[in-house]
Amino acid sequence: MKQPETVSPEQLAQLYAELAVMKERLLQSEKLASLGQLAAGVAHEINNPIGYVASNMTVLAEYSNSLINLVKLLSQQVNEVSRSALWAQFDFDYVCADLPKLVKESEQGLSRVVEIIRDLKDFSHIDEAEFVEADLQLGILSTLNLVGNELKYKAEVIKDFTELPKLRCIPSQLNQVLLNLLVNAAQAIEQDGIIRITTGFDNSWVWFEVSDNGKGMDDAELARIFEPFYTSKPKGEGTGLGLSLSRSIVEKHHGVIEVSSTPGAGSCFTVKIPR
Ligand SMILES: Nc1ncnc2c1ncn2[C@@H]1O[C@H](COP(=O)(O)OP(=O)(O)O)[C@@H](O)[C@H]1O
Ligand SMILES: [Mg+2]
Repeated sequence: MKQPETVSPEQLAQLYAELAVMKERLLQSEKLASLGQLAAGVAHEINNPIGYVASNMTVLAEYSNSLINLVKLLSQQVNEVSRSALWAQFDFDYVCADLPKLVKESEQGLSRVVEIIRDLKDFSHIDEAEFVEADLQLGILSTLNLVGNELKYKAEVIKDFTELPKLRCIPSQLNQVLLNLLVNAAQAIEQDGIIRITTGFDNSWVWFEVSDNGKGMDDAELARIFEPFYTSKPKGEGTGLGLSLSRSIVEKHHGVIEVSSTPGAGSCFTVKIPR
């Protein structure tokens, strides 16, 4: 009779560990998929009202200016005593000073919302483009052209390129990944840093790498950086969607995105796409 296969406790422990990792990845990708759908819906619904709120805001600013000027002109017709009384009753000096500030703040808030909607759209539209045979290096160079100017205030960009074979990919999306990595690298650098872009390939993969000598990350932070909306940046600087978006794009290419980092010394992100 055939003996039942036996599994040693070590093998069992190993299998459990693998299962736990797979479960975690599955949960992550399901979370991302449903977040993508939610994001698409939210972005679509908010886009329209935010549009007219923003344009109303501009008109409102003009109208309120006119109203204030009108009141000031009319008040010249009133005697000084009742003018002062009315001024005090309606706290008019304060209103005049505060109104432009409120409008300005609201406009800033609105542009922040518009920015977030744009990120959400990028995040949820990642299903739309097509796979083509492309030269990854061309994409890298054009992305660098786009952001090179921004980067140069923070860091010297070193290009360590290998001539790459053609790759089947969605070039615009890989550009987006590189862009996110470059922006993050620049934001991690205080000043006079170095950002290095390295490319390479072997029989199975084509890869590119962005490394910086910025502030780096500890293990606790590393564990969270791919979570949607996780950001360590001050309000207005980060949406926390860059890396989760990047990871969905890379996974769609059946690739992997790897990261290593040392607090205080810098970080390195590697994107590997199968050939
Ligand atoms: N190169 C880097 N160096 C240090 N920290 C980084 C780097 N890239 C990403 N991070 C960390 O990961 C977080 C998430 O990144 P991301 O998803 O791009 O969102 P955001 O840039 O909007 O904060 C960042 O807030 C930052 O804390
Ligand atoms: Mg980012």
